[in-house]
Amino acid sequence: MLAVMIVVTAATGKLGHHVIDALLAKVPASEIAIAVRDPDKAKPLAAKGVTVRHGDYSKPETLGPALRGADKVLLVSSSEVGQRARQHAGVIAAAREEKVSFLAYTSILHADRAKMSLAVEHLATEEAIKKSGIPWVFLRNGWYIENYSENLGSALAHGAMLGSAQSGKIAAATRRDFAEAAVAVLTAEGHANKAYELAGDEAFTMSELAAVVAAVSGKPVAYQDLPVAEYKQALIGFGVPEIYAELLSDSDTGIARGELDDRSGDLRRLIGRATTPLRSVIEAAVAAAKG
Ligand SMILES: NC(=O)c1ccc[n+]([C@@H]2O[C@H](COP(=O)([O-])OP(=O)(O)OC[C@H]3O[C@@H](n4cnc5c(N)ncnc54)[C@H](OP(=O)(O)O)[C@@H]3O)[C@@H](O)[C@H]2O)c1
Repeated sequence: MLAVMIVVTAATGKLGHHVIDALLAKVPASEIAIAVRDPDKAKPLAAKGVTVRHGDYSKPETLGPALRGADKVLLVSSSEVGQRARQHAGVIAAAREEKVSFLAYTSILHADRAKMSLAVEHLATEEAIKKSGIPWVFLRNGWYIENYSENLGSALAHGAMLGSAQSGKIAAATRRDFAEAAVAVLTAEGHANKAYELAGDEAFTMSELAAVVAAVSGKPVAYQDLPVAEYKQALIGFGVPEIYAELLSDSDTGIARGELDDRSGDLRRLIGRATTPLRSVIEAAVAAAKG
């Protein structure tokens, strides 16, 4: 069989690291390249044998060379909110120019119907990919459990988790689970022109999450729901920049509307196992927080 070259963008991020580890378990390093804005930051990945290329979403001239020779590309969405649609359009144009034959994109759960503002750039990117004519797959990732588990310090210190999510369910999953789904579609046939709604098996409310944190840590932790404007102000008070406070509080209103809940089972089917249980992630995070 002919070797297939897979290029993963933004591989120096947390999701990217999981994707590369999962890819290396399935394909030789010689068939993997990464396109990153800071090649120096990619030294640990280079040490694993993958080829490192310079690919900065904000520097369109880097993108063609970064994708050259690629059969399949995983476009990991940029973290530069507000610039993403334009940045991703540059990657799509380069992929078309370089005759890439399969483009996978990490989108957001229910990108085509979610009303939260985070979905706007994802939907614009999905539409641009469809228009490009390149066979695509949309990995519509739900929330990372790590959005919560990596930020338990304040909940453990103050006994409270704040939000505006009301009793909305969050079918979150770990980055590792989402990464394995990306690798599944990159390394097998039959995924072209499909949109997968990727969500954890176990949907929880913020109150249920707080109860798990309390049970695991042995400390009283409760969820306090706030009106959205109050939650945004609280985030700003904790030092969160206003643009992110707006995004986080707006996302919580989406959670309250059910936009980050999903029972499709797409993630479980793609990775061929149950998704990682919330409790095990919280146990590891609480142990790490206790040092
Ligand atoms: N589902 C969720 O809950 C959730 C939560 C947060 C984010 N996301 C989305 O999922 C993506 C991956 O998540 P993650 O956890 O891996 O995020 P992350 O650790 O913040 O990584 C973001 C990646 O985007 C890269 N990037 C930013 N601007 C770039 C540019 N101009 N050119 C090239 N690369 C650029 C970063 O490069 P550097 O390494 O050089 O900084 C980094 O590799 C995020 O970027 C975001 O779009 C999803």
